[in-house]
Amino acid sequence: MKVTIVGAGNVGATCARALANREVASDLVMIDIKPGVAEGKALDMWQTSAVQLYDTRINGYTGDYEKTRGSEVVVITSGLPRKPGMSRDDLITTNAVIVQEVTREIIRYSPDAKIIVVSNPLDVMTYAAYLAAHKPSNQVFGMAGVLDTARFKSFIAMEMNVSPKEISATLMGGHGDSMVPLPRYTTISGIPLTELMSAERIEAIVQRTIHGGAEIVNLMGTSAWYAPGAAAAYMVETILRGSRKIVPTSAWLEGEYGLSNIYFGVPVILGRNGVERVIQLQLNDAEMELVHKSAASVKETMNVLDQMGQS
Ligand code: NAI
Ligand code: 2OP
Repeated sequence: MKVTIVGAGNVGATCARALANREVASDLVMIDIKPGVAEGKALDMWQTSAVQLYDTRINGYTGDYEKTRGSEVVVITSGLPRKPGMSRDDLITTNAVIVQEVTREIIRYSPDAKIIVVSNPLDVMTYAAYLAAHKPSNQVFGMAGVLDTARFKSFIAMEMNVSPKEISATLMGGHGDSMVPLPRYTTISGIPLTELMSAERIEAIVQRTIHGGAEIVNLMGTSAWYAPGAAAAYMVETILRGSRKIVPTSAWLEGEYGLSNIYFGVPVILGRNGVERVIQLQLNDAEMELVHKSAASVKETMNVLDQMGQS
């Protein structure tokens, strides 16, 4: 099985490394636009195979999409972070052009690939890839919820001093300040979080999760990569192994939660065909209100793309 990662930067290379260590694919291809970067990182990573004992072949190429032919899953991490002086709309424009160019190349050589978008702004970049891919929406989706729930679980584990492995959680909404962590759907070893922690502490952890990306940017001066790379790898593994896990994913909605024509974070069953089913939670009024507020903010950014006439 072959997996391609476009963008051999921090997130892309970390994702590749997680996949190689877990022997999820037989062939791993990294593509970057900067000459030598993907080749160098792939070679360096391959040289860990004899020490870390994996067989996955890793190769890197500068813009040579022919080498991605026949990929089953493709992860798109190419894109620029926001720089001083750039507006939010500038970032949408710049990254949409990159994501759409890359998607067209990918589809040329791997028309059946499941495409996982990671580039930001996440939900609108997933929409950009979908417009360029001209394929069923269940095969083009975005990674954010796995990262955001991983952050939520890690903070709960710290607070309760329990293993993060025992925590199960889901989350909805756009990847940004409007995301909606769902404490009512969070358990530790099957025990509802709401029975184990005060409402005030839960709210503090919800807020830390919402601002989890910014917390790391403030510490490092650049955005995170270990958890995002691992989260993207988790989705690739779930697809290739056909695990049918329920995974929060930016997926195309057609009426679910009263929302249509939008890429939005919802729990889905992820399997060999990509998004196999959107799970409809019985949200209460307060949760539904937050979800619709988040959807309005995602729609706003999608409209910017539509106005650019990207397709
Ligand atoms: P990075 O700057 O380390 O890597 C991006 C790579 O993309 C660079 O190596 C660059 O040369 C490459 N690239 C740019 N244009 C390209 C093109 N046309 N073709 C091929 N490669 C190209 O950035 P990092 O930290 O890896 O982040 C990547 C993206 O992922 C950013 O947009 C970031 O905001 C986003 N991100 C999303 C997360 C999520 O939860 N969805 C979490 C973390 C980051
Ligand atoms: C994050 O949440 C910046 O989207 C990136 O870390």
